[in-house]
Amino acid sequence: MLQPLSAAPTAPAASALQANQDLNVLHWWTSAGERAAADLVAARMAEQGLRWVDGAVAGGGGGGAIKVLNERTLRGQAPQVAQLNGQALREWAELGLLLRLDGVAQRRDWRSTLFPQVMSQLNVREHVVAAPLGIHRINNLYLNLALFRQLKIEPPSDWAGVMRAASALRAAGITPVGFSDEPWQVATVFEAMLLGEAGPALYQRMVVQRDLQAFDDPALERSFKRLREWRNLAAPVSAGSGSNQIGNANPGERRWTELVADFAAGRTAMLISGDWVRGELGALGQEGGRDFECKAVPGTAQAHLFSIDTLAMLAGDGSKQPAQERMAELLGNATLQISYNRIKGSVPVRRDVPVDELDLCAQRSYRLFANPGTPRVPSLVHRMAFDEVGKNAFIETVHRFALDPNQTPAAAQRRLQALLRALGPRPPKALP
Ligand code: BGC
Repeated sequence: MLQPLSAAPTAPAASALQANQDLNVLHWWTSAGERAAADLVAARMAEQGLRWVDGAVAGGGGGGAIKVLNERTLRGQAPQVAQLNGQALREWAELGLLLRLDGVAQRRDWRSTLFPQVMSQLNVREHVVAAPLGIHRINNLYLNLALFRQLKIEPPSDWAGVMRAASALRAAGITPVGFSDEPWQVATVFEAMLLGEAGPALYQRMVVQRDLQAFDDPALERSFKRLREWRNLAAPVSAGSGSNQIGNANPGERRWTELVADFAAGRTAMLISGDWVRGELGALGQEGGRDFECKAVPGTAQAHLFSIDTLAMLAGDGSKQPAQERMAELLGNATLQISYNRIKGSVPVRRDVPVDELDLCAQRSYRLFANPGTPRVPSLVHRMAFDEVGKNAFIETVHRFALDPNQTPAAAQRRLQALLRALGPRPPKALP
């Protein structure tokens, strides 16, 4: 029997069509703030008939997620969308595993609406290989304002002020600093300190140009000293000791969300971290300027140590490509950019958004990033400068120093020098 031409799709065809709108997204946004930001994207996608099928892998900094992505891809079960940032994105694109989004970028005029630094992150061999989400600032010092007000302590802007505040906090029975020995968290604090001690030009020579001589500079040794001092400020004030003694801390490998919870509850007063912390504080009902202050890590106020979140679309059999492209278009959309970044703690990747709609901390970060005069330097720990192997080796070196009180800052500097020599010079830019 002949089928009428206008027949509705048969059941299997309809479900195949629906399946083509399902996008499996692999990412590491599992904290309350991160989850809320991801849920917002999922809701906006649903309005367009696209379905975000969640493939979250817990673990801040994404070490676990990248391993799972490797495994799944090797087994032929790659997701359609993956959080791949910076050098990781580059490596995956070089292997030919990612969809090219040149058409989307052109239709949506990304070249003129996105910040050039963002655009250059998305570009590999002259092709756009990911969609941008937000720009994180890493060099933040958060202060619990309730504690500072209540104890009438001056909010610090330099290291001397930090040490004075720490000793007043300790005298009042408050552990001054939240710190975790989780490797990526230690190294995140360290790179912000390195920027402070070295300044942006020297930081750039070390991290971007991998100039071996730059690693001889005494700024490196000073950064290791700072790291040790800061970690020791996390030693809990022991009950009844009533003392102002600063001992050796042994904070253990705590999740970053636990540090945020302690900070929000007033159990600690200072935190150095990327501004995903602000997203998390928001999810806990806290507000910048009212409950906490976001300052720059001493010595880095004029600089922006950045990390850019991007979602790559993995190349498949082509059936998902239209959905992947629609998702990419949505991610760059101005309205989504504002609402997503307000929840996530990062700032929009576009140059044309109404800045006043961001909170004060975000406005500061956005304006700084947008100003061409600002030294903007890439985060090593969050994959903006080194490949995965080099980044992990760097993190490991810093982590070992933090855990070993017998290793001197000078010895740690020598280890980093040796590591850099072993890694060799920065790989030349890929040929087109
Ligand atoms: C990512 C952020 C994430 C943070 C903590 C960073 O590497 O860029 O999006 O919130 O890790 O998990």
